[in-house]
Amino acid sequence: MQADVYTARGNGRASSPSGASTGVHEALELRDGGKKWGGKGVSKAVANVNGKIARALAGFDVSDQQGIDALLCGLDGTENKSRLGANATTAVSLACAQCAANERGVGLYRLLGGKKIPAPMLNVLNGGKHAGNGVSIQEFMIFPLYFPTFSESLRAGSEIYHSLRGIIAEKYGAQATGVGDEGGFAPPCRSTDDALALLERAIGECGYQKKVLLAMDAAATSFYDAKSASYKVDGKRLSAGELSDFYVSLAKSHPIISLEDPFCEEAFQDFAALRARLAGRVQLVADDLTVTNVERLAKAIECGSLSSLLLKVNQVGTLSEAISAAVLCRRNHLGVVVSHRSGETEDASIADIAVGLGFGQIKAGAPCRAERTAKYNRLLQIEEELPSGGFARASGIVL
Ligand code: PGA
Ligand code: ZN
Repeated sequence: MQADVYTARGNGRASSPSGASTGVHEALELRDGGKKWGGKGVSKAVANVNGKIARALAGFDVSDQQGIDALLCGLDGTENKSRLGANATTAVSLACAQCAANERGVGLYRLLGGKKIPAPMLNVLNGGKHAGNGVSIQEFMIFPLYFPTFSESLRAGSEIYHSLRGIIAEKYGAQATGVGDEGGFAPPCRSTDDALALLERAIGECGYQKKVLLAMDAAATSFYDAKSASYKVDGKRLSAGELSDFYVSLAKSHPIISLEDPFCEEAFQDFAALRARLAGRVQLVADDLTVTNVERLAKAIECGSLSSLLLKVNQVGTLSEAISAAVLCRRNHLGVVVSHRSGETEDASIADIAVGLGFGQIKAGAPCRAERTAKYNRLLQIEEELPSGGFARASGIVL
């Protein structure tokens, strides 16, 4: 859903994305229900933007982002943005940020203060709720870390992606080269090991073994069965302890440097135990566990559940609240991975946010489908604007 903001000196436009594997603790995305658009219409959220929000913001200083976001929170008045809709507040909050940048004639990343271009995690093989291939793990990513510039890391990612296509066509047939929600291929791999081996072969064929590592987002809530308190992976039922062993053995046999949501969205202690086992080797990223929410993040920090936060503005509903989560991470020496959603739009604000916050990592899908390449193209543009290039390489990863 898109919002436009106009002032006497400029204008700003931004859209809020949507997720297929949303966490239950996320801010609410307001949909109309009923028959039209299969219930997914957003006319109520649009009416909130054009009505209540527009009236409240009229005359407000667009460069006061915190004031605007506090106003949105106050106007909504709920814990989870359920009155206005987090889709409405996210689009407005980001449109105001874009407008403030536009008024000053600079990119949003400059307004946010940073100059570090993030290393990209490219999701090249999709499973879970993002594909129909029966693979349990949601995202298999390549992480081109050891390149001097962002553009070279992206080129390597793109070469590997296309090499992977050839490998999949050879192994599973050309019909298996269709893509999932985030632009990654969705072949019917029999196991997690098989999927990782495909990525390693593609990296090897391109000659990047030492420069490109692997990352995974298990999105484990999607294969967790609360009744039996077990996880269904690769056709087996595993307890949390067995699943932990599974990840540790994967990390031994594959060059995995980052692992997201290895357990379900309430499993603070299981996250912490695995983090301790993988300390110094694998970055443990929390997404559905923390949902960019400072209270849940504070609890996760207290439990030792994460080494980095996945940051999605629409999980919480305003840019300032997402920045507060990032500030809490910085204070606790944790990393931040700025992220897209499976249901993205052409909006590229996350590229600016990732550069602005300067934590050095972004997750924006495969180098395929315009809503994914929009983010990478924006980063290429920012790289041209920055005199030194400012690429973060592997510096933002917290192990
Ligand atoms: P989602 O997936 O946008 O469907 O929630 C992305 C993720 O889990 O990181
Ligand atoms: Zn995730």
